[in-house]
Amino acid sequence: MGYSLSGRPQSQIDRFCRQYLQLEQDLTYPEASVLREHTTQQIIFSRLFSHKALRYAPPVRYQVRNLKDLIGRIEASIEDWDAHEVSGDLMNALAELLASALPPESDSVQQKSFVTYHLSQLSCKGAADQEAIESVATITLLESRTLISAYGTTGLRTWEAGLHLGQYLCANPGIIGKKRVLELGAGTGYLAILCAKYLDAAQVIASDGSSDVINNLPESFFLNDLQGSDEISAMELKWGHGVVGAGDKPWSSGEAVDVILGADITYDERGHSALIATLIDLLTMFPGAEVLISAAERSQSHVVFQTKAQQAGLGLSDIDYPSLPRELQMGPHTLQAHGRDIGQKHAQLMGLMAGAPVSTRPRYQPRTY
Ligand SMILES: C[S@@+](CC[C@H](N)C(=O)[O-])C[C@H]1O[C@@H](n2cnc3c(N)ncnc32)[C@H](O)[C@@H]1O
Repeated sequence: MGYSLSGRPQSQIDRFCRQYLQLEQDLTYPEASVLREHTTQQIIFSRLFSHKALRYAPPVRYQVRNLKDLIGRIEASIEDWDAHEVSGDLMNALAELLASALPPESDSVQQKSFVTYHLSQLSCKGAADQEAIESVATITLLESRTLISAYGTTGLRTWEAGLHLGQYLCANPGIIGKKRVLELGAGTGYLAILCAKYLDAAQVIASDGSSDVINNLPESFFLNDLQGSDEISAMELKWGHGVVGAGDKPWSSGEAVDVILGADITYDERGHSALIATLIDLLTMFPGAEVLISAAERSQSHVVFQTKAQQAGLGLSDIDYPSLPRELQMGPHTLQAHGRDIGQKHAQLMGLMAGAPVSTRPRYQPRTY
């Protein structure tokens, strides 16, 4: 039997389910008056804990911890046990999980986990049901939850700056629609997949300097039904190394790149010169390209990058696009994502940088190697 609600209770349930599927550590539970309702509990059960609920479920330890917590909060929300009760389906789901062999904590930290992001900013012109679009528009990735993976790359999980730039692109789909897109330091491929699957890009190249990241990208494409697609491909591109000629096949079949994206690629100041050299090379090859770079402002490195880029002749300007307060986010969630305490201030300050307006570009001297 299908259950549904509307308005505020439904939004609270949606937010909770989406945070759970994004493997958030601190979930925002529906308020007590919503949580104790049978309908609420059955919606949560059918979306998160029934056998048929999920194609790609979170790690078992995460499921157990949060289902226990959920049941505890439901119990605490009930004032009149004659009128309300804890759903038998949720109780059975917990019993089944507890009866299964839980992997040791040390193993689960190392293992990769499925993470599902909901694209709440996405809208389709003329779509009859915006809510329906939001609930199905997701990106699922298999991520390493540690900050730097055992392979020594930061690219096996998705970072807040990537999610934030994704929100900006969803809110401004014209930037990507029908364009040829190159992503630098693509990591899990979140942005590349977003562009190919939901933003109608003509072609997308997800590039990265780490071969582990590149080897991982086909799996990311597969999880999002993009396997075998001509519209998206992975390419090794290490900043500071000469880029191949614009007429070469990997470069969108010889056609110009229109948009260059980079999320959280300026955090390490030691990589700035190489990254700037690559950007200059790319803008020499593709003089009409628009560059969008996002940075989580956890240090001053993005300011340093901006200064160095300007000194090298790249006209960079800030885009004022603050992230929504956590209580208004409907996915992807960008505060305290992945259990890191990044705090309100940092997330509010998360910045985006854009390339110079076309009229002033290029303002740099092309480099030779
Ligand atoms: C912090 S991660 C960001 C990943 C993704 N853009 C995101 O927002 O989730 C930085 C990415 O840049 C890549 N990277 C670092 N140094 C690089 C270099 N010199 N050349 C190319 N890619 C590099 C890493 O492999 C990693 O995937």
